[in-house]
Amino acid sequence: MRHRLLGIIVTAIVLGLSVVMAAAVNQGQENIGIFGGKSGNVPFPHRQHQDRIKDCNVCHSVFPQETEAIKKLKETGTLKAKKVMNLQCIKCHKQEKKAGKPHGPVTCKTCHVK
Ligand code: HEC
Ligand code: HEC
Ligand code: HEC
Repeated sequence: MRHRLLGIIVTAIVLGLSVVMAAAVNQGQENIGIFGGKSGNVPFPHRQHQDRIKDCNVCHSVFPQETEAIKKLKETGTLKAKKVMNLQCIKCHKQEKKAGKPHGPVTCKTCHVK
């Protein structure tokens, strides 16, 4: 009986802590308009991707968790244009599509809006 009570208390503490830690991380905006050059900007449902992908570094290993991060890296010549688009966005969407799973857009105008 005492062990079970202890178990419940420990679980409650762990749960409480993870809620506090999750709140401390800056999740960024729910929806982001990514700079897309002359083709037009790209509306991006950030939170929806976070909920599904979990690991922030799937995307953020290439650019930091900052507003307009991709645009800034391109301006300094550190990141090639279309690299994120091709190696992250389209690559993953095509893989999911091939696997017959729900996937994001794969054609220019479904991503870029003018
Ligand atoms: C599917 C790709 C992807 C994943 C996964 C992802 N992000 Fe992002 N995140 C982006 C993009 C794209 C931007 C916008 C960069 C830009 O505007 O140049 C961004 C921007 C941000 C920003 C900058 C503030 C803002 O809202 O503009 C923060 C903070 C951030 N992300 C936090 C996170 C955290 C924390 C996680 C994991 C829980 C995460 N992101 C997961 C793609 C992703
Ligand atoms: C899944 C969404 C998506 C699709 C589909 C897509 N793009 Fe993009 N595109 C982006 C994102 C996000 C960026 C900004 C990041 C980057 O440059 O990698 C971008 C960047 C670009 C850029 C560079 C803009 C600049 O000045 O830095 C061009 C040009 C471009 N896209 C053209 C196209 C064309 C042409 C197609 C169709 C063959 C296409 N895109 C399909 C999301 C998409
Ligand atoms: C690791 C995989 C992965 C990466 C990387 C990724 N996506 Fe997606 N995306 C998905 C999946 C899966 C869905 C379908 C989600 C659903 O239906 O719930 C999706 C859906 C979308 C949608 C449609 C949302 C809707 O509900 O209509 C857009 C727009 C989109 N992604 C844009 C992007 C852009 C722009 C990038 C690059 C910055 C990107 N995605 C990177 C997996 C990914």
